[in-house]
Amino acid sequence: MKLLHIDSSIQGAGSASRAVSAAVAERLRAEHPALAASYRDLAAEPLPHLTLDVLGDPMANAELQAFLAADVVVIGAGFYNFTIPSQLKVWLDRIMIAGQTFSYGPDGPQGLAGNKRVIVALARGGFYGEGAPAAGFEHGETYLKAVFGFIGITPEFVVAEGLAMGDEAREAAMAGALSAARGLAGGLAVAA
Ligand SMILES: Cc1cc2nc3c(=O)[nH]c(=O)nc-3n(C[C@H](O)[C@H](O)[C@H](O)COP(=O)(O)O)c2cc1C
Repeated sequence: MKLLHIDSSIQGAGSASRAVSAAVAERLRAEHPALAASYRDLAAEPLPHLTLDVLGDPMANAELQAFLAADVVVIGAGFYNFTIPSQLKVWLDRIMIAGQTFSYGPDGPQGLAGNKRVIVALARGGFYGEGAPAAGFEHGETYLKAVFGFIGITPEFVVAEGLAMGDEAREAAMAGALSAARGLAGGLAVAA
């Protein structure tokens, strides 16, 4: 079984999403010591923007192949300018490939990647939950739900938010998110 762990925060060692995604990966590894894990740091080694030749040659698309081979994918994402880091968008551009992760049939689009568990560790400076004044500016969690949903996956989220709202709020958010990460279901199969 394979775990693909991706980080995309630009904030290095001070990154909240990196700390939470590491806790998620650790949770899975503790449950499955034989899990073959690979790690990709999209901020340290950014991918170039999508070009047409990438779309034409899925076998040469290393990010797509690594995604297809993974049973579980853990993604660390900061929340920048109301959405995901552009480094992560570029990675998504490489896995959203017609004929590989989705197809269009007589009944419309069909997701082809539904056999994977995807867990996103998302870190936001402000508050964007239901009822929050800024809820309508949340284009990170909502976007990832839509994109992964399109390819047949219902992603799970571990959210740390309010991180820029003072030390107390940050500590509470991190404690809550790390505890949620440690309490995640340990199975690799997609929940029914
Ligand atoms: C370039 C940049 C843009 C940001 N934009 C937002 C934003 O639009 N809304 C928000 O709530 N927080 C914003 N923040 C705060 C981040 O969401 C917060 O620092 C969070 O911890 C990011 O995750 P990370 O620590 O893993 O990088 C921004 C931070 C940076 C560095």
